[in-house]
Amino acid sequence: IPEGIDLVAEIKRLKEEKNAIILAHYYQTGDIQDIADFLGDSLQLAREAQNTDADMILFCGVHFMAEAAKILNPTKKVLLPDLLAGCSLADACSGEGLRELRAKHPGSVVVTYINCDAGTKAESDYIVTSSNAEHIINQIPEDKTIIFAPDKNLGAYLMKQTGRDMILWDGVCIVHEAFSFERIAQQLMENPDAKLIAHPESDATILEMAEFVGSTSRLLDYVEHDEAQKFIVATEEGIIHEMEKRAPHKTLIPAFPEDETCSCSECFFMKRNTMEKLYLALKYEHPEIEMDEELRQQALIPIQRMLDMSK
Ligand code: 13P
Ligand code: SF4
Repeated sequence: IPEGIDLVAEIKRLKEEKNAIILAHYYQTGDIQDIADFLGDSLQLAREAQNTDADMILFCGVHFMAEAAKILNPTKKVLLPDLLAGCSLADACSGEGLRELRAKHPGSVVVTYINCDAGTKAESDYIVTSSNAEHIINQIPEDKTIIFAPDKNLGAYLMKQTGRDMILWDGVCIVHEAFSFERIAQQLMENPDAKLIAHPESDATILEMAEFVGSTSRLLDYVEHDEAQKFIVATEEGIIHEMEKRAPHKTLIPAFPEDETCSCSECFFMKRNTMEKLYLALKYEHPEIEMDEELRQQALIPIQRMLDMSK
């Protein structure tokens, strides 16, 4: 990269030149969020990817999100600034593992969190995100046994919310799993006027302590519209950037993780994307998401079912 280059200007120029759209998740760094054409949670990003008429999608998130964009809109060139931007939940599950588990429970319905690879999606009946999971599970006939993968924390939370018994896969998000009950309890004691809000990928002990639980977009809406002036936010710290924009006069405190040297939780997978890598990805149209067409078609079925059911 040439020294002294204006990355913001260059990214914008390349984007226009190539008719590309930049989609970014709330866990990206502030500079990436600011340059994005569209910022959203997993569900909103999937919808945007499906409906865009740009020629190219620069997906600023993690691999499974960019892959979902390709599944939904295969004629577009989908770029991910760093192919190593993975996810501990996606790594925890495989299509083969899911097939074996289903075979042990004949007649069961497999509901899978969107945080998984295409092979896992292809073995699923329904894909869900944290903003529509409850709504979709409530539409599954009561006599069906549900296998929920790969997030056991989200699964346990959904069991409580829907009253449905489920067989849970044993995966976790390493970022949300790392919140410290003791340190957050201390934060609440020190800030008696603050409300704890949490993402449902967090452990049950954190969710029980929270006054509000929701996906990234729901947490954003809550901070914006609730009458409280102070919030302790138990999700990835990148979200604070958009929260501060939507509620500039409110106090936002990242919840503490177990590691006592850290005062917030960062997803190092999400943070693999940088402005330099965005620039290079657009300039060289690489790294690109490519996939087998048969697999894509199989993975599309449960994603499309989700989109149709959560209209
Ligand atoms: P949502 O944006 O759907 O809440 O997902 C959170 C997450 O962990 C994405 O990796
Ligand atoms: Fe995966 Fe958790 Fe990172 Fe989201 S925050 S990409 S669920 S590891």
